[in-house]
Amino acid sequence: MKLWYDAREILIGGQWRRTSDTLPVENPSTGTEMAQIARGTATDIDEAVAAAQSALHGAWGKTTAAERGRLLMRIGQMVAERADELAAIEAADVGKPLKQARADALALARYMEFYGGAADKVMGETIPYLNGYTVYTLREPHGVTGHIIPWNYPMQIIGRSVGAALAMGNACVLKPAEEACLTALAFARIAQEAGLPEGALNVVPGLGEEAGAALSAHPGINHISFTGSVHVGTLIQAAAARNVVPVTLELGGKSPQLVFNDADLDAALPFLVNAGIQNAGQTCSASSRILVERARYDEVITRMAERYKALQVGPADADLDVGPLISARQKEIVQGFIERGTDLEMAAQGRIVDQAPAGGHYVAPTLFGGVSAGHALAQQEIFGPVQVVIPFDDEGEAVQIANGTEFGLVASVWSRDGGRQMRMARALRAGQVFLNNYGAGGGVELPFGGIGKSGHGREKGFEALYGFSTLKTVAAHHG
Ligand code: NAI
Ligand code: MG
Repeated sequence: MKLWYDAREILIGGQWRRTSDTLPVENPSTGTEMAQIARGTATDIDEAVAAAQSALHGAWGKTTAAERGRLLMRIGQMVAERADELAAIEAADVGKPLKQARADALALARYMEFYGGAADKVMGETIPYLNGYTVYTLREPHGVTGHIIPWNYPMQIIGRSVGAALAMGNACVLKPAEEACLTALAFARIAQEAGLPEGALNVVPGLGEEAGAALSAHPGINHISFTGSVHVGTLIQAAAARNVVPVTLELGGKSPQLVFNDADLDAALPFLVNAGIQNAGQTCSASSRILVERARYDEVITRMAERYKALQVGPADADLDVGPLISARQKEIVQGFIERGTDLEMAAQGRIVDQAPAGGHYVAPTLFGGVSAGHALAQQEIFGPVQVVIPFDDEGEAVQIANGTEFGLVASVWSRDGGRQMRMARALRAGQVFLNNYGAGGGVELPFGGIGKSGHGREKGFEALYGFSTLKTVAAHHG
């Protein structure tokens, strides 16, 4: 793939430079090598953290909130202008259909616009206290923030995480995923061109266990934001604990949609299926469980199966419904899950198109029916285009099944009954509940994050600005 920049370079303190080692990047649609990226080391991370610390004492640390806001909006504008170019890179790198990649580029632009607009609207409070005192609070940046992000939605996650951190005046060190980091590098170039002061954003690609581990254990960082697997999330929290550094963890999910007897199925159906197969199911907030009240079960499974049979899987640039998985390893894991479903009713599968290159990591989207709530496919995160349909008998059982995994990221309720909507919204254990809709990662404005093993802390929306800042209370005694 032809890039307008050198993907082997890393960004430290405003300078682009090479590392001694590189890593190959695979195009998941073809299985062939498409670029080389830097293999950042612990030393590179040390230097990136030092550059971020200098930035806080330099030009970046002196910016006003309004200046940061204007700058982020300028970056957003430039990202939007280059959305097609960024989309083509992301589609090739991640394997996602072009229209999804373009939506991601526009989401990145929108995050910059949102956090740009919010930067100068984060305010403290004055607090009534004893006579002769004035007490107020200040929202201050943490300092250096570390961002370890995955390969499934690089642009979206940079937007929500780096965007909010910069708005609050933090200096960032970004460690993108080794499988897909090309848009992280492109974004940093654009931000620099827009006038982001040196050291405000440093980017060091590399392996998780090398550059990632070095960043999460670094004593010079003041906050870490991580999106990825539960396993690595626990490693990062443990590493940060040794330095008493706060972490935001956005991990996996097994997010349910609950379809009640009185649901508007015509409205629900596109959401029921799309939320499971979007980005080939490689979405933390994918809806992988569909819970259906028994009287509508046959109808739901039949109509979902019809949609599955029409799904076309192929290379990212063919812009079909579903692209390949990110790697041979992910494909093997997902196929393994599908094989564990031999005791289930396979309701339908999508079709891998004939022109899909043999080396690509394609998996046919698969819908399983009649699944019991305790089955491995109904409990574990699959991270592929696989959904299970589980029948239930009443509200109580629906809640029990919905809440019966170790995750709690997103849930949705399809029902026309307003009282039930309110009861469910309270009863469901999740960071986001959608009523008669479902947003897999949707909504820049909507605070997002999990409970249980889905993680903790909130990104997105205005709420993220509190997460990316620390509160100082000032108590003045003036008599
Ligand atoms: P991962 O958690 O290993 O990778 C995510 C990021 O963490 C990458 O930047 C990686 O380089 C970094 N990392 C890996 N090991 C690290 C370490 N020891 N210290 C610091 N950073 C480290 O996820 P992976 O292997 O790509 O996918 C495995 C599973 O994780 C998926 O099948 C899926 O279930 C889940 N996952 C969830 C995501 C989400 O959006 N919540 C995103 C990606 C994966
Ligand atoms: Mg990993």
